[in-house]
Amino acid sequence: MEIIGKKSLKGEIKVPGDKSISHRAVIFGSISEGETVVENILLSEDVLNTIECFREMGVDIEINKEENKLRIIGNGLYGLKKPKKSLDCGNSGTSMRLLAGVLAGQNFESTLIGDSSLSKRPMDRIINPLRKMNVNIHGVDNKYPPISICPSKELYGIEYTLPMASAQVKSAILLASLYAKGETKVIEKKTTRDHTERMMEYFDEDDFKGKNIYVPGDISSAAFFIIGASIMKDSSIVLKDVGINPTRTGIIDVLQSMGGNIGVKNIRNINKEPIGDIYVSYSPLMGIELDSAIIGRLIDEIPIIAVGAMFAQGSTIIRNAEELKYKETDRIHAIVTELRKVGGDIEALEDGLIIKGTSTFYPGVLDSYNDHRIAMALSIAALNIDGKSKINDDRCINISYPQFYESLQKIIME
Ligand code: S3P
Repeated sequence: MEIIGKKSLKGEIKVPGDKSISHRAVIFGSISEGETVVENILLSEDVLNTIECFREMGVDIEINKEENKLRIIGNGLYGLKKPKKSLDCGNSGTSMRLLAGVLAGQNFESTLIGDSSLSKRPMDRIINPLRKMNVNIHGVDNKYPPISICPSKELYGIEYTLPMASAQVKSAILLASLYAKGETKVIEKKTTRDHTERMMEYFDEDDFKGKNIYVPGDISSAAFFIIGASIMKDSSIVLKDVGINPTRTGIIDVLQSMGGNIGVKNIRNINKEPIGDIYVSYSPLMGIELDSAIIGRLIDEIPIIAVGAMFAQGSTIIRNAEELKYKETDRIHAIVTELRKVGGDIEALEDGLIIKGTSTFYPGVLDSYNDHRIAMALSIAALNIDGKSKINDDRCINISYPQFYESLQKIIME
């Protein structure tokens, strides 16, 4: 994608449905009984992979692309069928880790596979706790995909303290606990997204019968426009119906501490998730040191926060974010390498970044590392730099936000 800066952003948009909640809607709809209708579902590659995996296990899932709607006829907790082939999670860590939790309790053998990026991501973080629950689960070197799961006689509940801040690990254990004898308790030292807990409670209201779900807009997708509008002069935008679950709103808190002009209105609840309209306009930003407790509440937003910090005054310090290395690519390396190409003064730490705000930038040819969030963060950086930049391998935006450039086009002002 070629991007010509400098621009400003003006107008109102609706970002697509939340990726984490979309995955969970497919999962809970599939393992509950009867009809679940999901509105505003995100139909991106990651979520389509989860849908295909459940179809492969005999779940009837009807996709209405025009209306971003799903109709799922759930098979119940014990009604999934043995898949005829390996379950392909593509690029999606959420699909693989959460599915492992569901497959743990099935009476058939299954194998989870992924693309070259996912095949390098650590799965020992789910293998270890699931084994403690008596799940018969194996990976390559006990760590990497493919993951194979064989039926176990009985699963046991566990008490488990998460060694890393990971909602995917927490969710895999919670999903497996649906099939386990006794109580399961997961203790997290740092807050991570709690969509699984909320949706589990929502489905539990009716004894795991199908439900209606409206998926709030994804704050992680909104984040690109939130930072974009904050750094591009004369910008003022409204993002409608965005999920504002407190485990996800670290970006709003950080932006406010940096001097950003951001507010949320029209707050209400929908299927146990809070949702609202986000208002953002341009404001000069100041660098800050991020509190380590906030990292889990904004882990996916760090690439775009780094872009914001690059245009701020003073230094921004991000520590305790080692998890960035285990995402779709090593995001510490990708952010540092690419933002330096356009004049960013940015340094990698073992567990984070130091970004010094500067004022001289130049356009560049930037690489996405086939990581959707890197591609979109770099696109926003390029929009705020005079001249023509290019983002290589931008196809990866399809992982979470296929219409990203169309949405952007709607609010770009010359
Ligand atoms: C997710 C959890 C996070 C996040 C990912 C989605 C989820 O990953 O980065 O994009 O839906 O549970 P970790 O659990 O690895 O932190």
